[in-house]
Amino acid sequence: MATLVDGFGRTFPYLRLSLTEACNYRCSYCLPNGYQADGRPGFLTLEEVRRLVRGFAAVGMRKIRLTGGEPSLRKDLASIIAAVSAQPGVQKIALTTNGCLLPRHVRLWREAGLTALNVSLDSLQSARFAAITGHDRFDEVMEGIEIAQTLGFDAVKLNAVLLRGLNDDELPAWMDFLRGRDVSLRFIELMRTGDNQAYFERHHYRAEALEQQLVDAGWTLRPRAADAGPAREYAHPDFRGRIGIIAPYSKDFCAGCNRLRVTARGDLRLCLFGDFGIPLRALLQSDDDHDALVARIATQLGLKAAGHGLHQGNTGITPHLASIGG
Ligand code: 5AD
Ligand code: SF4
Repeated sequence: MATLVDGFGRTFPYLRLSLTEACNYRCSYCLPNGYQADGRPGFLTLEEVRRLVRGFAAVGMRKIRLTGGEPSLRKDLASIIAAVSAQPGVQKIALTTNGCLLPRHVRLWREAGLTALNVSLDSLQSARFAAITGHDRFDEVMEGIEIAQTLGFDAVKLNAVLLRGLNDDELPAWMDFLRGRDVSLRFIELMRTGDNQAYFERHHYRAEALEQQLVDAGWTLRPRAADAGPAREYAHPDFRGRIGIIAPYSKDFCAGCNRLRVTARGDLRLCLFGDFGIPLRALLQSDDDHDALVARIATQLGLKAAGHGLHQGNTGITPHLASIGG
């Protein structure tokens, strides 16, 4: 089966598919005023998702991450997971969620074929968690994480966005948390988007500063797997859990890019911070368009740029990550 290669020799076995732009949280760096519906046509249907995934699988996609917005707001999420998992070629299905519906649904998602889970958890203090996300759901998220750990997922990862003045003093608490738990925590450096410029100035905290604290505490960098994501992962013999650093402003971040994105309305995005989307939805209306879909994906990949323009303050057309799927 063909594999996609761009003009810089990068391959793309990994697709991030947004299932909705809607979210029930109001994370201060993402949707501080909550999700505002804009009356445009709805999000991809189950059938459209199935055709899309079939197309990407035909050009070498092996891993898919379902994201949003908050993907668990889709009533048909379990059916989508099952449909994706039934596509030949798809080996891994991951979900990125804010976690508050985990206690109710995570068993069902696992049974439907989900293989990995990422849960956003920006603070281990419930009051701070509520202040950052606008949602007092800390207990549900923690309960969901504990349940998920018993279900045999390939990986359960937690995402914490690093925020100066809001959660940048929690490394010791995180270490306590990770001592006996087999989870990977990812610290994500705050990214500037179209909507969060002033917030970014106030709360941006450099990932390298945290990385130095880890090294000082005896954590060591693990070798990077060939198909690994952008995280630099650290381990420590006294801790079961691992800590990854995602530093989008570091110089090698884009060189390791192995992912494409599709928005909840079916636009292919070659980069999180790109300037344009490539509409695929018209080719998702009939199984007969499969070949045309595959051809469009392959042609467009030739346009993927070497890296993002964030260093130049260029955030592309991304107002916030809920619009594209972190
Ligand atoms: N910078 C960094 N991370 C972000 N996320 C959302 N917006 C931003 C941003 N501007 C995170 C969420 C979630 C993941 C998918 O992306 O907190 O954990
Ligand atoms: Fe929702 Fe995720 Fe944005 Fe928070 S970061 S508001 S959970 S989409």
